Amino acid sequence: MNIILATQNRGKVEEFNRIFLDYPVRLSTVFDYGITHEPEETGVTFSENAQIKLEYYLKIIQKNKFYDSSTKNLLLAEDSGIEIKALNGEPGVFSARYGGEGLDSTGRNNLILKKMEDVSSENRKARFVCCIKMADIEMNFQYEFIGHCEGLIMNNIYGSNGFGYDPIFKPLGYNVSMGSLKPEVKDKISHRGLASKKLIKKILNAR
Ligand code: IMP
Repeated sequence: MNIILATQNRGKVEEFNRIFLDYPVRLSTVFDYGITHEPEETGVTFSENAQIKLEYYLKIIQKNKFYDSSTKNLLLAEDSGIEIKALNGEPGVFSARYGGEGLDSTGRNNLILKKMEDVSSENRKARFVCCIKMADIEMNFQYEFIGHCEGLIMNNIYGSNGFGYDPIFKPLGYNVSMGSLKPEVKDKISHRGLASKKLIKKILNAR
């Protein structure tokens, strides 16, 4: 079985590669087919944006027959982000571009730390959300899998693992940032890891 990852985000690709390592699937990404353009994410929910990505890449892959027809081919699209309670749920669906296109991940993390400077420790709740949409290439079926990871926004940047907001997010039950956790620990508790676990159960019939 082939799973084509419909994402341009290298951090996500690395995580999906680890998550599916023990399962009988061959992963490829849209990069492998030379697709470097992305759809505009005009949805107001993670689910809507994941659907936009799914349909956008599905069309290109179907049109160009970018798949091995001797096996089952699935497309996996994902939209994710962080919702911070004290910021009324921001950055949410704008997580990738929060603060404007000019900022990199460190810039976005610093922006959030600055906005939360005066927020007390009790009011620093946040959660990561991941919505995965999966369809077969012929669009005979489509599924949605959601994962959440609850935690707190820290007061500084810690750790160099992971990507995005990992260095400022402390998962519930842990004393360090997501960016300080070993990758295999992140995969067990993360929004992406939990959504993928549901997918694996449904699609691969495994735990
Ligand atoms: P998108 O799903 O490609 O629109 O972007 C999601 C954005 O949310 C990423 O660019 C990150 O900024 C953030 N994000 C999603 N998942 C994670 C994660 O596991 N760790 C840290 N940041 C994440």
